Amino acid sequence: MEPTDDNRRMWDEVHRPRSDDALAAGLPQVVEERLPELTGKHVLHLGCGTGEATAELAGLGALVTGVDVSAESVAAARERVPAVAFVQGEINQLPVELRRARFDLVYTRVGDQLDAWAAGIVSALRPGGEVIVHDGHPVLECLDDTLHWRDSYFDEGHWTVGLVVTALVEAGLVVRSLEELPADSQLLPQTRRVPGELLLVADKPQG
Ligand SMILES: C[S@@+](CC[C@H](N)C(=O)[O-])C[C@H]1O[C@@H](n2cnc3c(N)ncnc32)[C@H](O)[C@@H]1O
Repeated sequence: MEPTDDNRRMWDEVHRPRSDDALAAGLPQVVEERLPELTGKHVLHLGCGTGEATAELAGLGALVTGVDVSAESVAAARERVPAVAFVQGEINQLPVELRRARFDLVYTRVGDQLDAWAAGIVSALRPGGEVIVHDGHPVLECLDDTLHWRDSYFDEGHWTVGLVVTALVEAGLVVRSLEELPADSQLLPQTRRVPGELLLVADKPQG
């Protein structure tokens, strides 16, 4: 029997590794492993969604502020962790009260307007503070369901690794590490040949 379009779509939905997989709710293990000691530290979580990862950061002793553009997500996050401050806002245009150089750590996904996003991170961090950027890898966005190239890596529709690093460096941050982690799918073992996640750590220089 030939598969119907609906069947095929359902199959693709279930089996295709996505860069969003890297952003599933909760603190990814690769991020947790790279966190500094957080007790009493001021942490800004950008793109906090419904607060699963934010709750984990608070559980590690941090004083966390979460930011998300979605009002519904922020409402759900407040319900989940009432002790944490959640702000509805754009990570590409941080509210002024978060731009006072008081955070020890910013944990963020990649913004859509790279220069404004990077400037916001720098203005939020205290001198000596650090940012951890974790997101799906843009190469994964360019592949089809059989992991062959479908789109150009250089389309304007998405960021590239080079553009992200350049935006952060030009904003004044010092990149300490940049890791590209393999995509993972239990159903498609060959996805481990493809970059699936981007993990970058950078510092705001002292004074
Ligand atoms: C995959 S979810 C994050 C989940 C979170 N990492 C967690 O573990 O709980 C991505 C979130 O980024 C938010 N987001 C996307 N673009 C944004 C923007 N420009 N400003 C603020 N939030 C944004 C979305 O609303 C969504 O809640």
